[in-house]
Amino acid sequence: MALRNIRKQGEEILSKRAKEIREITPRIEELAQDMLETMYDAEGVGLAGPQVGILKRIVVIDISEERNDPIIMINPVITESEGTQTGWEGCLSVPGKSGQVTRPEKVRATFIDIEGNECEIEAEGFLARAVCHELDHLDGHLYVEKVEGRLYDNSELQSEQEEEDDEPAGDGEVKA
Ligand code: NI
Repeated sequence: MALRNIRKQGEEILSKRAKEIREITPRIEELAQDMLETMYDAEGVGLAGPQVGILKRIVVIDISEERNDPIIMINPVITESEGTQTGWEGCLSVPGKSGQVTRPEKVRATFIDIEGNECEIEAEGFLARAVCHELDHLDGHLYVEKVEGRLYDNSELQSEQEEEDDEPAGDGEVKA
């Protein structure tokens, strides 16, 4: 396993549509493991292929606090969505920033797992947000295109939070 270089906003690959994976080869398995390692190392909750320079439809997500509940999704497709939620989002490709984004409250998605099984997931709340954010990466979109209001520096939000100590603002932990 190896850490991969995380691509940053402005790099062309982040605005391209990623391609379907036709076969789960050893290289894809290695990519998935590297993506997990890279996501954990960067303290993110999700990472998509284009973010490590690979234009393929694969994402990894782990929203658990213990960092022990990884989901690897190959060729994921959102098949149903319901409701809305508005909350803070950040991205490993846009370091140090956060913004408010409205997403569906619940989504259902189909995907292939790393063993090649067809799977379906029902996600709600923060997991639904993470799924939507990562799948956007596969279509060449960053959350900053959907931010309501403006994009904040995390340092700015932390100092506001210290002063007000109310809402859990973007604290730099939500990076996907
Ligand atoms: Ni992201």
